[in-house]
Amino acid sequence: MKIQYKNISPDSYTGDVLIIGITGDGEFLNTLKSMDQASGGFFSAIQKSKQLPQKNNSIRTFYQVPNTQSKAVAIIAYDNSKKGLKQASKHICKYIKEYSFCNAGIHLVDNDFEQLSPLLKAKEISQNLLDTNYTCETYKSKKRVENKINIDIISNSSQSDIETGIEQGSAIASGMNTLKDLGNAPGNICTPRYLATYAKQLAKKHDGLSIEILKEKEIKELKMGALLSVSQGSAEKPRLIKLEHKGGKDKPIILVGKGVTFDTGGISLKPGAGMEEMKYDMCGAGSVIGVMETIAMLNLPINVIGIVPTVENMPSGTATRPGDIVTSMSGKTIEVLNTDAEGRMILCDALTYAQQFKPKALIDIATLTGAIIVALGRHPSGIMSNDQALADALLEAGDKAGDRAWQLPIWEEYVEQLKSPFADLQNIGGKEAGSITAGCFLGEFTKDVSWAHIDIAGTAWQTRKEGATGRPVPLLVEYIMSQIN
Ligand code: BES
Ligand code: MN
Ligand code: ZN
Repeated sequence: MKIQYKNISPDSYTGDVLIIGITGDGEFLNTLKSMDQASGGFFSAIQKSKQLPQKNNSIRTFYQVPNTQSKAVAIIAYDNSKKGLKQASKHICKYIKEYSFCNAGIHLVDNDFEQLSPLLKAKEISQNLLDTNYTCETYKSKKRVENKINIDIISNSSQSDIETGIEQGSAIASGMNTLKDLGNAPGNICTPRYLATYAKQLAKKHDGLSIEILKEKEIKELKMGALLSVSQGSAEKPRLIKLEHKGGKDKPIILVGKGVTFDTGGISLKPGAGMEEMKYDMCGAGSVIGVMETIAMLNLPINVIGIVPTVENMPSGTATRPGDIVTSMSGKTIEVLNTDAEGRMILCDALTYAQQFKPKALIDIATLTGAIIVALGRHPSGIMSNDQALADALLEAGDKAGDRAWQLPIWEEYVEQLKSPFADLQNIGGKEAGSITAGCFLGEFTKDVSWAHIDIAGTAWQTRKEGATGRPVPLLVEYIMSQIN
């Protein structure tokens, strides 16, 4: 799908379909008014006979509209809000594909949408078209042949605004689709080594990105005993990936993504039903790689480092046993009461490692706990932080990006649940407040830095069939853009 700006009057658009919006209450907007006149009352006639779409996001197609140049004119009823524009864009994408159109002119940017700027409207449309257009055909022997679709954003707003919007929306969708590709890839393909190779190729493609990959030997030298206690049961060796985008002068924002390429639970084995979904347990890693791609594409003037600790969690004769005590890179000892609480084990070492680069903000992203779905359902991601200003900035970015999050407390009272009789900490905090105690565990390793944890177990994917969602790439990119001074 290719998206570009076109400054023409809608009725002179010559492609397959010209798509025009009306608000759900059926009120004629300016475009339709003038086209209605030019067509000799074509649209008012169909309005009279109640053939205009009524319900939000329903679309009707009309052929042979007098005095228009496109093969068809489609009218979509939309809800006049930012969320409405997102939904309309998604429906338009599905519609174009369903009708097998090869090109479409979309005339929506010059409509109101709660006075959103033309740039933001073009961004919203582009991002949602490309997000919705995603399919995962990689692992099918017969691939569906898809039309190359050309989209023209028809508007008389400033060309540079629209083009910037298209560029931003496209770059965010690219990052989301990279995350989806990585998340949907099965565990036998997407291994720690695969993630490292993928990141290396990404860095090669973008001048602004540099990369460093640590292998097991170097991870051992760094004394990352917590991370290694997870990987030691698997035949797949761990990796620690560091991607860097240098665009500014300030201290970096550091993103750390959980990269468990498959989570069996280890010796504390998970039940069989639904275990296949644990291929998504690297979606934190995928988000970080996706965001690095987006900011490299946009060449954002800011410093960002992405760190990905990646392992496979397997049971075997070399696997960690419940009760084992290991020493993390920080020096803190951890009693592993449950080998299925492995995410925090790899993250605590990665968070310790990250602090040598003196981050302005340190943010980890992880499919960390099933409990977050119990607490919040699958609508928001969960946020925990030791710095309210950082939490607020992330929450606001999520709202703005339509990729929402909700905060949970990590009061010191909860930390009590992590006290071990034998080690400095134990890796689980019991039945109550499972997401919070996971956050508190990470908090024990991030005391001297502004840090936030985003639990995406409920948002990174929703159902097995629909696959990865691309979240929270929009939230993270919005946050990073908000930090450019
Ligand atoms: N990757 C899982 C969390 C998860 C579970 C994400 C279900 C999405 C859906 C994580 O490693 C895990 O197994 N967490 C345990 C923690 C428990 C052992 C304290 C959990 O949530 O059950
Ligand atoms: Mn687990
Ligand atoms: Zn896990």
